[in-house]
Amino acid sequence: MTENKHTVKILLTEEQINKRIMEVSLQIQRDFSDKDPLIISILKGSFIFSSDLIRHLNPLYKIDFIVAKSYIGTESSGSVKIIADVKSEIKGKDILFIDDIADTGVTTSFLRKEFLSRGAKSVKVCVLLNKQSRRFVDTIVEYSCFDIPNEFVVGYGLDYNDLYRGLPYVGILSQEK
Ligand code: IMP
Ligand code: MG
Repeated sequence: MTENKHTVKILLTEEQINKRIMEVSLQIQRDFSDKDPLIISILKGSFIFSSDLIRHLNPLYKIDFIVAKSYIGTESSGSVKIIADVKSEIKGKDILFIDDIADTGVTTSFLRKEFLSRGAKSVKVCVLLNKQSRRFVDTIVEYSCFDIPNEFVVGYGLDYNDLYRGLPYVGILSQEK
């Protein structure tokens, strides 16, 4: 059993998350009603959010995955690496990226540019959490479920060094003294 050296204070409950996902999914369905988008879930952080969100979307939407990494511990490394790429054709597609959180904005702005240069027709970004105060890249996030303060959060897919992803809520992580 891994020793737990942290405390986690609940910021968003399962109920709040589920309710908001429902609202945002309606917004997405409206905006994409005349399109055939390719949804790309940015792993690992968005795997729980993506699976909950897509169950409220049109089941004919195709889904692919990309593994991108920009974080080491609680500090942004400031650069993005594609660890595993999508398999789908990108040319001419309307892409909807799903990510766990827009923090500095480095990841989503990098992927937006990268996929437009691969020939995507359009790129939109949907995040569960938005830490607007941390943004140092001029990034647009078209869909965001919650604006949160500048705190390091875990749970519902978000991790601290790969721990705490399985918590059913989003909580603020603090070091036990
Ligand atoms: P970016 O700084 O916007 O590029 O965010 C990159 C990634 O950092 C996100 O997709 C998360 O995986 C991770 N990240 C940013 N803030 C947090 C946090 O508060 N908790 C856990 N992961 C985070
Ligand atoms: Mg992460």
